[in-house]
Amino acid sequence: MLEGALDSRPVSTASELPSLRLDATREEALDRAAAIVSEAWRGFDRARPGQPSVDDRLRELLRSTLPAEGSSALGALEDAARILDTSLAQPRPRFFAFVGSSGLEIGVLGDLLASCFDVNLALWAGAASAVEEQAVRWVSEFIGFPATAGAFTSGGTISNVTALAAARERALPGSRRCGMTGQAGALYCSREAHYSVVRAAELLGIGSELVRALPQDAGRRVVPEEVAQAIDRDVAAGVAPIAVVATAGTTLTGAVDPIDALADVCAERGTWLHVDGAYGVAAATTPSAGSLFAGLERADSVTLDAHKWLFLPKACGVVLVRRREDLHGALAHEEDYVPHDRPDHHMVDITLEYSRPFRALKLWLAFRAHGADAIRDAIERNLRQARLLHDEVAACDDFELLCGEPPLSVVPFRHVPEGVSDVDGHNLRLVAALQETGDVWVAPARVDGVVCLRPCVVNYRTTDDDVRALVTLARDAGRTLAEAAP
Ligand SMILES: Cc1ncc(COP(=O)(O)O)c(C=O)c1O
Repeated sequence: MLEGALDSRPVSTASELPSLRLDATREEALDRAAAIVSEAWRGFDRARPGQPSVDDRLRELLRSTLPAEGSSALGALEDAARILDTSLAQPRPRFFAFVGSSGLEIGVLGDLLASCFDVNLALWAGAASAVEEQAVRWVSEFIGFPATAGAFTSGGTISNVTALAAARERALPGSRRCGMTGQAGALYCSREAHYSVVRAAELLGIGSELVRALPQDAGRRVVPEEVAQAIDRDVAAGVAPIAVVATAGTTLTGAVDPIDALADVCAERGTWLHVDGAYGVAAATTPSAGSLFAGLERADSVTLDAHKWLFLPKACGVVLVRRREDLHGALAHEEDYVPHDRPDHHMVDITLEYSRPFRALKLWLAFRAHGADAIRDAIERNLRQARLLHDEVAACDDFELLCGEPPLSVVPFRHVPEGVSDVDGHNLRLVAALQETGDVWVAPARVDGVVCLRPCVVNYRTTDDDVRALVTLARDAGRTLAEAAP
């Protein structure tokens, strides 16, 4: 624009100011939001008794129709805080269900900053893109995997499909363009692999029936000889092996497949080895569980969820690859609206998503604020707490452990009181009773056809007393139910 041209433009009037302004000052809104967050953090420091239920006022609010007119922003924030306080928050120290996330405070702040600046990570976004690359390097170093590239994802499901898309393209070059064209390909994993492996097979045109869910040994680890035989059988039948998926921490029991032996099987056959460590691979860095992950450095790709055992708020998945060109070969696109001005740093060429939030920032901040050692110590503490849980359950006659010593931090067990014949039904009722009071939160699961409680310890806020409380509360509720049974 020519100098002076600006002067001829009319001066903005109040009506030309952006319309979507808050009815409070920014400082007021930020102060209110900060107060809500700090109250929540205080509440997460200690277990709270019970779980508040939705009251009439909230119920009415949640039934209201689309508001045509705005109302007080501070009032709306207040309502949001009440809604969240009445919802199940995984950061609470007695949330033992699923594989929870702990809402690490520096990560929460990272999310606020990331969404405020809302950078465009599809293309080179300057320093933010450099932070993504640095966070990939840091997390790779943390777990001991020699990644040359990686991408931040919404979680294990997308990381697995991303890695397996790369594996498919390497096993069957051109399949991303032509489809499988009648060429069958297969995936190999343990029976206990996460269903996202099957989901990936469905989405990639491999087909769920070509996921070979293979037997496990007594430690619930996939048997490498079975994997080798399954691959050899498929090759003989004209089915192309696409990838072996080693689960490094199964969702159900925390079993870690023997990565080194699977790497041997894959190396002999030229098959891709993917390690689904969404839940467990963060423990590869710990003194007490690190040896379970031997051979990790030999994998072709690794999935890790920083929103699981690196304690960050959701969503912060990472997929790491040994060779950047594998991701590029499976995902790169030439589009007129995506200028390839920096081929080396073109994240859109190695990610499944196009628009993406700046997830890496919170992981980068966590390493900066706490350092790798403190994060490793917090994981180690959870591992020790899982062993404590195992021992407390073992010491109580009316409980039965379904697996041996926990390899990681899942401890499935069930209540087996004398005189109760429907033990599965009893344990489902027990979980429902615990959830009803909300003093402690566990989810039910089925291990080898048997219903059980499946607590998982992955929260840096959980104390040894919280672990002991889980056992006491479950035992008391189980006994009360058994006594009341007809
Ligand atoms: C081993 C494993 N893989 C994949 C996933 C899926 O991760 P996400 O829920 O982040 O998509 C999970 C989730 O618990 C998991 O435990």
